[in-house]
Formats: sequence, C-alpha cells, structure tokens
Amino acid sequence: MRMGVSADLHSLAVAGKQRGGSFYDSPEVFERYLGHRHSGVSSPNHVMEEPALLDELGIVTGLRVLDLGCGDAAIGPLLLNAGCRSYLGLDGSAAMVEAGNRALAGMSGRAALLDMEDFAAPPSSFDLIVSRLAFHYVEDLAPVLAACRASLSPGGRIVFTVVHPVLTSHDPGGQGPRGNWVVDDYFRQGPRERSWLGSTVTWFHRTVEDYVAILASSGFVLTSLRECAPRADRFDGDADELARRRRVPLFLLLAGKCG
Ligand SMILES: C[S@@+](CC[C@H](N)C(=O)[O-])C[C@H]1O[C@@H](n2cnc3c(N)ncnc32)[C@H](O)[C@@H]1O
Repeated sequence: MRMGVSADLHSLAVAGKQRGGSFYDSPEVFERYLGHRHSGVSSPNHVMEEPALLDELGIVTGLRVLDLGCGDAAIGPLLLNAGCRSYLGLDGSAAMVEAGNRALAGMSGRAALLDMEDFAAPPSSFDLIVSRLAFHYVEDLAPVLAACRASLSPGGRIVFTVVHPVLTSHDPGGQGPRGNWVVDDYFRQGPRERSWLGSTVTWFHRTVEDYVAILASSGFVLTSLRECAPRADRFDGDADELARRRRVPLFLLLAGKCG
C-alpha cells in the first residue's frame, strides 16, 4: 500500500535513532505500559484523554493522518474505520512500531521507526497531525512543531495531548493509586525525572502558557485548549473512580490550524 509520504521520509524512518522512545523498548516498561493503557475504566487515557481527543478530531473522512509518538497505534484502526484516507504512525521505540504494525495489519496504514526530532516531510504531505502523550518526551518542541506545520496542507490541523503540566511539574513519588499531587517549581521549564512503570523516565515540563506560545510561534492558530475532564459515560457506573478522576487534571489537549 502506498501512502502520501515522500521517499525522504521513508529513509529517515528506516534510519531512526532512539531518544524518548528508548524508554519503551525495555520489555518490562513496554508490557506494563500497554497493560495500563488498555485497562478500561482504570486507564485515565480511556476515561479522560481519548473522549476529549475524539471530540476534537471530529470528522476525519478523506484526511491523510500522521501520528507522532504513535505507540501501538491504537488510534490507527479507529481513524481508518472512520474513513481517513491514510494513517502513518511514527515512533522512536522499535517495540512500539512492531505493536503498531500488528494493530494495523490488513489495513491501509502503517507504523515506522523515527524519532520525531528527525521528522520532516514536504508541504501538503498530511491534512491532520495527531500526537498523544508524546510531546513531553521532547526537549526542544519548537522545531518539531515547525516541521509539522511545514508538512501540512493549507488549512491542515494539529491536535495533541500531553501529560498535564500540573503533573509534569513535580513528582511526590509513592506507590499505588494517588489521591493528590504536589505542584512545585511550576515555572521552571525543563527535564524532570520520575519513577513510572517500575523504571525512571525523563519528562520535559512546560507550563500551559509555554505550550500555547510554542504552538503560535510555529505558525499555528490555537483553535482549542482542553483539560480532558473525565467523561461519566466511560466509567461503567463506577462512581468512586469517577469522583477520583474529577480531583486532578491529568491531560492537556491543544489544537491548532495552519495560520
Ligand atoms: C505515553 S506513550 C503514548 C503512545 C500512544 N500515542 C498512545 O497514546 O497510546 C509515548 C510514546 O511516545 C514515543 N516517543 C517518546 N519520545 C519520542 C520521540 N522523541 N520520537 C518518537 N517517539 C517518541 C514512545 O516510544 C511512546 O510510544
């Protein structure tokens, strides 16, 4: 199957180096992440991030979609079934790319290995760029968003989610389900190490204002900002879990249109 992607992009994908994606190539992290990610009501992605994202994406019929930091490309089949013209997922983890291509088997989409810091594609290669919970792994986000802007068609859109700055600002540590978070050093941008999935990960903290400024300086007009409040209809009637998820924002969503 041919997608609307240049030979240059393909060769970059083949030559992909490891950056934030390398964290997910540890077999323990990979298993734990996917277990957590697809655990239904107890997955915050399922009850908070995904409904906001799908609302924001709206109708995707006929669109050429790029997904940066696609992971196991869970959204690929969903978008292809909803009528998008093509789906390309890029990820810096070889294990995730393999899982992504398994999820896309038999469909007109694919996943490829590429650090998003190395992404570049000709103008009008894509109509919609999606990135879910991956941009906070990137130290210098402005060039990545500029490359996204350059690869979109006129009127093209970007929709992305990140771990909410309330969470990336500080990690109190501890085990088990949390009921509260300590916010500290909020206005200090930069790397924050934390324990997650039995390992140590580096996330790059930015404030909400930083994300908005980077989007604007990369040539996008901000069209939406959401904090992914939990959606009651995704909790299978579990009122306690819904109440817990209403306490703290976990995800930030931003959307922009080519200006
Ligand atoms: C939290 S997971 C999210 C995966 C997927 N988007 C989802 O929502 O299930 C973050 C993903 O970003 C990828 N990633 C992190 N840093 C990256 C980078 N610099 N370039 C490409 N992928 C990266 C990881 O390998 C991982 O698959």
